Parts: sequence; structure tokens; C-alpha cells
Amino acid sequence: MTTTPVYHIPVLLKETLDALALKSGGVYLDVTFGGGGHSRAILESDPTIQVIGLDWDKAAYDRGQEMVDEFDGRLQLIWGSFAHLYKILKKHNIQKLDGILADFGTSQFQIKNKEGLSFLGDTPLDMRLSNSHYVSTAAHIVNYANPDELRHIFWTYGEEPYTKQIVAAIVERRKIKRFLTTGDLASLISTIVFHKGKTHPATRVFQALRIVVNKELENIQSFLPVAIKSLAPKGRLVCISFHSLEDRMVKDFYKSMEMAREGSIVAPGLVVAGEEEVAVNAACRSAKLRAFEKK
Ligand SMILES: C[S@@+](CC[C@H](N)C(=O)[O-])C[C@H]1O[C@@H](n2cnc3c(N)ncnc32)[C@H](O)[C@@H]1O
Repeated sequence: MTTTPVYHIPVLLKETLDALALKSGGVYLDVTFGGGGHSRAILESDPTIQVIGLDWDKAAYDRGQEMVDEFDGRLQLIWGSFAHLYKILKKHNIQKLDGILADFGTSQFQIKNKEGLSFLGDTPLDMRLSNSHYVSTAAHIVNYANPDELRHIFWTYGEEPYTKQIVAAIVERRKIKRFLTTGDLASLISTIVFHKGKTHPATRVFQALRIVVNKELENIQSFLPVAIKSLAPKGRLVCISFHSLEDRMVKDFYKSMEMAREGSIVAPGLVVAGEEEVAVNAACRSAKLRAFEKK
């Protein structure tokens, strides 16, 4: 018997629905549609609710078409980046949303299956989540960035304690042979970083490269103010972050919006996964949810 692999287990599902304070007849935008887990739960919560799903990964968009058929006119999918939310909403004539959800980062499916993202296989060292826009590949950064730049990337975005040693080893190795594959880079890191628990030694460096290649923090920065502007009165923005820098960005942004009297932070401020959820879905270990309600 064959089983269909799970695309992605949505994190903090109940907490997300609560934070969105869903209303009958409401229109909600899920800017990180992924496997559609959160969108599905929103649609299933009330037959009068509509969802617009956005994702920049064409594979996620294509796969979501089955769900579009299933929900018979209540789900619309758009292929694009939330960094360009203003243009996307204008183009599709979407205004005054009742809620917006952003579940940042990558899906479990992408980590396992998208070429160049994972240290588990041996695929070209790429890491671009979307090929719709030009960005440097991870291989380009690893092979050509100067050592200071590499140290900054691994330390700031990966909080990698062995940054100095890893960068020294990369610089020596690339003099002889450029890095071409994920396995190539992961095995070099494995000779330096100690394998602790379930975390692969290359996890932090790979995360750092993915964040930089995809301009993940810049995208969030562009997205947040547009999201608030696109909400109807009492509409809510819910963000789930997986990295301390993302979470700080969201937290500081909400505070600045509160100071500007644009609305208020939804209590209790920070929501994290309980032990039970972490036990069944390791991906939510670092998930941090914050919600804001527009005035
Ligand atoms: C953690 S997954 C979301 C999973 C989803 N909530 C679910 O339940 O299946 C993050 C998704 O956001 C997408 N994504 C990341 N950055 C994006 C961006 N700038 N614009 C649009 N989608 C983005 C990724 O392609 C990925 O599918």
C-alpha cells in the first residue's frame, strides 16, 4: 500500500484561527499558502468565508488548484511574493480584508523535496524558493562572497557558533574546487560542527543561506505596512515566525503601529506551541505567533 506523503503539518492551527477572530462572510488572505493547511482550516470553519491564497512557489500554487476545485468558488489562488503585496492586491482588485495570515519560512515539503534546499540529499546548491525573480544562488554566495560577508551571514542569520572555523574551511576548500551541491557543503560542515541530538550539523548554515538567498527579512519588511493598510476596521494580521530576527521585526512593527494609534496588539502578545504539539510536530518548536487588530 502506498501512502501520500504529508505536504506540511500546519503549526499553531487552533491558535491561528483564534487569533484571526474569524467572522462569517469574511474574506481572508493567506500570504503563505504552502500546502494550504491553514487556509483549509479557515475555509472549513464557516461555509460563508472566502480565502485568497498567495505563494511564490509555483509548485505550491499548482498543487493548490485541487483545493480551489474542492471549495467551489470560495478559494482563489495567486502566484506571487508577499513582498509585492500592494501591486498584487491592486491588480486583483482586492480591498479591505478581514484578516491576513503569514506563516513565514518554508514548508516541510519544500525542505524535503525542493532541490538545493536540504542537506539531506545531494542536489545543486541553489536554495531559491521562487524562480520568478532574480536572486543569487547559495552556491554563488558560498563560492564568491568575501570571508567577512560569509561570517556575517552565518552568524547573524544562523547564529552558528562555529562560524569562524566554517568560513576558514570554505575559503580554503573553494581555492581548490568550487562548491556545487548541498551534500558537498554539508559534508564539509560535518567535519567541523559536532552532531548534537537530532539537529544536523549543517542546519544553521543552511538556514542562514536560505534567508539571504530569498531575501526573507527584506520581504517581511516590505509586507508588514502594506498588510496593515489592506485590513478592514477590526481586521487582524497574524504572523508566525520561526527565526528570532523575523519575530523581532514583527514585534517591533506591531509596537510602532500601536504607538501610531493604528490599532492594538492582540493579547497575550506572544503565542507559542504547547508541549503536546511540539511532540507531534517538531517544526513548531521555534514558532512564534503574534496578532494585531486594526482600529
Ligand atoms: C511555512 S510554509 C506555509 C505553510 C502553510 N501555512 C500550510 O499550512 O501549509 C511557508 C510558505 O510560504 C511561502 N513563501 C515564503 N516566502 C514567500 C513570499 N515572499 N511570498 C509568497 N510566499 C512565500 C513558501 O513558498 C511556503 O510555501
